[in-house]
Amino acid sequence: MRNTKIAVIGGSGIYDIDGLDAAEWVSVDTPWGAPSDQILTGRLGGVDMAFLPRHGRGHVHSPTEVPYRANIDALKRLGVTDVISVSACGSFREAMAPGHFVIVDQFIDRTFAREKSFFGTGCVAHVSVAHPTCPRLSDACETSARSAGITVHRGGTYLAMEGPQFSTLAESKMYREHWGADVIGMTNMPEAKLAREAELCYASVAMVTDYDSWHPEHGEVDVSQIIATLMGNADKGRAMVKGLPALLNAERVDCPHSCDRALENAILTAPQA
Ligand code: ADE
Repeated sequence: MRNTKIAVIGGSGIYDIDGLDAAEWVSVDTPWGAPSDQILTGRLGGVDMAFLPRHGRGHVHSPTEVPYRANIDALKRLGVTDVISVSACGSFREAMAPGHFVIVDQFIDRTFAREKSFFGTGCVAHVSVAHPTCPRLSDACETSARSAGITVHRGGTYLAMEGPQFSTLAESKMYREHWGADVIGMTNMPEAKLAREAELCYASVAMVTDYDSWHPEHGEVDVSQIIATLMGNADKGRAMVKGLPALLNAERVDCPHSCDRALENAILTAPQA
């Protein structure tokens, strides 16, 4: 029987997690190059944990430059079974206010300058991402965040944009009014797709920092506004992470949603004789 190993990929403002036993930053090499940074490993409440700062400590990788394939591959090599993304986002909904968490369940991928697959050139595979996040893992995030007193919205569509500039007003209105997006960020894609290809359960917790640029009473988004909200959000994010081990069995069971068997019906290339 395999052990559960929970990885947290921390976005802007989250560069470590506290309270780990036997904490150690480890270097992991992958065929896709180096991950964003060393990975913090340890145990929390008897469960194996890993933490990867998505932008690197010191925030050195832009959303386009984050080595998404190396990050997911490095986590897989460490034996990770469950990946939780915690990242900042803008909101397209009045009710999803700065300081709230949105447990994302759908994505619109508008990124265009990133490597998006482990497959191709010799081994072709098409995994399904119709349901890109794992409900079991999302349940745990929701429960833990609610017990930490955080206002949580369960379900939401995350528009992943390339950046690094924020959206124009016309884009912001189009995503909100016509595309049905609820939140916007720059990093969850292709991360979620790659996690599925790696047969890892993936949940995304988007921490609202701003109303992007559509909101008539909030003006345009800027980094100082994001940082101010992030400081509070980062503490809440860490509180949510602390509650996760108690909700996820230390002994790994098969994912009831088949995230860990995503390749079973996905590979087209004939096996080599
Ligand atoms: N991250 C945080 N706020 C954002 C926004 N408004 N657009 C894109 N990424 C963001």
